[in-house]
Formats: sequence, C-alpha cells, structure tokens
Amino acid sequence: MPDTNLPKQSALAAEMRAHAGLFTEKTFDWDAFPASRGFPDLSRAQLRYIGAGGSPKTNDPSTMKAEHFTFSLVNQPVGKFAASHAHEVVEHFLVLQGVLTVGTVWGDEVVEVKLGPKDMLLNKSGRPHGFRNDGVEPVLMQITVGSGTPEMPVHVCHPKDKDLELSRRFGAPSADKIQLLAPDSADWRHQEIAKQVVRHRDRQPQWEKAGFARLTYIGEGGAPASTYSMDMIHLPRGVAIKPYVREVEDVYFVLGGTLTVGWEQNGEVVERRLGERDLMFNPAGRPHYFRNDGVADAQFTMVIGSPKPQPVAFVAA
Ligand SMILES: [Fe+2]
Repeated sequence: MPDTNLPKQSALAAEMRAHAGLFTEKTFDWDAFPASRGFPDLSRAQLRYIGAGGSPKTNDPSTMKAEHFTFSLVNQPVGKFAASHAHEVVEHFLVLQGVLTVGTVWGDEVVEVKLGPKDMLLNKSGRPHGFRNDGVEPVLMQITVGSGTPEMPVHVCHPKDKDLELSRRFGAPSADKIQLLAPDSADWRHQEIAKQVVRHRDRQPQWEKAGFARLTYIGEGGAPASTYSMDMIHLPRGVAIKPYVREVEDVYFVLGGTLTVGWEQNGEVVERRLGERDLMFNPAGRPHYFRNDGVADAQFTMVIGSPKPQPVAFVAA
C-alpha cells in the first residue's frame, strides 16, 4: 500500500526534474550515426541531452525536446575521425577533454585547427567540416546545432565511396593541400575560420556587478551568433543571483564545481543542485536563478535560444 504520508511532488518540482539532464543518468550511444556503421575508423559515441543533434534518433524518450538548439556530448576515441560533411545550420564544438583536430574544406584544400579544453569552433552553415582525434586520450566535446530539428548532414568525403586515407584528410589529396590555421594570415579562408574560433586562454572576462564573470563564446565579442548565443560563466563560491526571466530558453551546463538552480512559480520555489556535466533547461518565460553554495568556484556554459538575447540585468541575491 502506498504511504500517503510521503510528501507529494508538486507540478513545478516534477517539471523541473523533467528539465534536468544528469550526466550519470545518461548513456553514451555508440550507434548514433548510421553513416558510420561498418566503418570502425569513424567510431564515436553520442550522449543526448536536448534534441538529437546530428543523429536521426529524434524519438529518444530520455532526451528533452529542443527549441532553438540541440545539446549533446560526443566521445571520439584516439585515432578515429568523422568524415567531412556540411549542414544547413550552424554547429559548435566545445572541447571538454583532449585535443580535437577540425578540418574545414574548400574544394580539395583543407584548413585544420587544433582545439584544446574549453576551446570552441562554430562551424558556419554550409561550410564542410570533419574532425579527427590525433591525440593520446579520447576527445570529449559538447556539440550544439542551431536548430531544434536539423536535417541530416550531407557528406563530402566519406569512406563509403572514397579512399579511407583521403577521407581521413577530409578530402585533401596530399599533405601539401592541408594548412594549419594561421589567424594572422592574409588568406581569406584563414580569416573566416579565425573569426569562428574561440580560445579559452584568449578570452577577456567581463565582470558583472552581480559578482560573476562572463566569457562570451557566441555573440558580440565572440564567434558571430546566428540562431543562439553562448557565454561561459565563472561563478565564485558564495555568489547568488536573483530570479530573472527570458523570452527564450536558456540552458546551464556545468563544467566545474556545483551549481544550485532555482525555479519560481506563484510564490512556490523549487531548487536542484547540479554537478559536473549536469544540465538544466530553463524554458522561456520561467523565472529562474542560480547560486554557488558549493566548496569551490563553479564554471558553466549558458546557451541562450536567441542570437540577440534581451540583456538581463543580473542582480545579486
Ligand atoms: Fe557537423
């Protein structure tokens, strides 16, 4: 017989629970990309928080419905590569672990860039790209596609119909057709890619009066926003922010430390604490706030479902 003395979960608490993506409750999917089946060199795993991203698995019940962008992680083992392809929307790679080599394709020429932890590349829509792990540890990266329902990628150089080694070089027929990104180069291709790359070490923190620092990744001062924007937030221990509302969704994804997130509705407040690689999807119109009552400073990315979000006047609580 059920214990009727147990406190009942409110509708708000249940809704918040359904909008939390907890890393330890999720499973990496080694069969997310059908075009990679039968090609061990293309092996990689996807973990979906919001939407399906580049996978056709749009009916995964453990995944939240995407509004303006998807949100997933990808693990790429040492030595593997993703065949070059293009999308109709923008897509970013934010490296969490390892070193990722991304190649952008210009006919039979390729410009490569190596990204380390907390570095990001925003792929322009229509620009073919592939990625490879030349490092000594698995790459873990966070991928977002700028549409709730992206179309399937169009392959440019895939081992199903091209030479394997050619595909590993993203279609460059020889080594002299590959250049490493030189941000100061006068070559317009390098200039285009340089605008899309954000290196964590080069970011200038902007300190908000409310007591936390913002590093712009996508949006004014970072890579150009087209459908969504993203900041990395550094939240010192003990800092708390009052509730705020947006006209679009915003998502918190914890990179380090712990983060307490609160939601409000008609005087009711519910909270949840997030750890590393946990995520909260805050729907449009929902009053919400964040606080760091953990033992260390916290860092998280904030992805906002608009290229030009209304500025929020954050106020210390
Ligand atoms: Fe892609």
